[in-house]
Amino acid sequence: MAQLIGNKKIKTAVFISGNGSNLKNLIRFSKKKKSPISIDLIISNNLKSKGLWLAKIYKIEKKIFKFKNKATDEKKLLKILKNKRTNLICLAGFMKILSKNFIKSFKGKILNIHPSLLPKYKGLNTHQRVLVNKEKYTGCTVHFVSSKLDSGKIIVQKKIKIKIGDTPKKIAKRVLIEEHKLYPKAILKIFNL
Ligand code: GRF
Repeated sequence: MAQLIGNKKIKTAVFISGNGSNLKNLIRFSKKKKSPISIDLIISNNLKSKGLWLAKIYKIEKKIFKFKNKATDEKKLLKILKNKRTNLICLAGFMKILSKNFIKSFKGKILNIHPSLLPKYKGLNTHQRVLVNKEKYTGCTVHFVSSKLDSGKIIVQKKIKIKIGDTPKKIAKRVLIEEHKLYPKAILKIFNL
């Protein structure tokens, strides 16, 4: 993991694909004094990602990569990250799978948030599957990214109860509230703060 030196914040890039509520939450967190990170770059694979507005509002540099040619785009992206001295990557609703090679170049420095209690319910449609399986609990997980999907070392998790009459939408809403608390908690934890 990157080391904190004095009160210099760790340069962080956040990768998104959609709404960007976790991104917004991380930006707000980064502006707090106790936060070890600064967010200097937003990456999206989706030009229509709502979260890209945040780049404008908070004056953060943004780049769009469609990853149609993954190898080429990742190569360009790695160059940018290197030039910006990015030392941490936070995936926040990023729907593309990064290559083994890319992950290796940022070994131990890529985090992801996933809306389930990993190792259960890796992949998509987690809340739907949780309901079909009549689970009593679900939740969210922040973990290090490894080359296997949703399988890297778990940093923190938060459990929530499934209620009678729950739908995937209702669960997603409650889980998202917890995600917003959990991501900053995970970042503080990896820097021993
Ligand atoms: C979150 O539920 C996250 O766990 C999942 O995608 C969703 C992204 O939400 N991977 P947002 O774009 O941060 O609002």
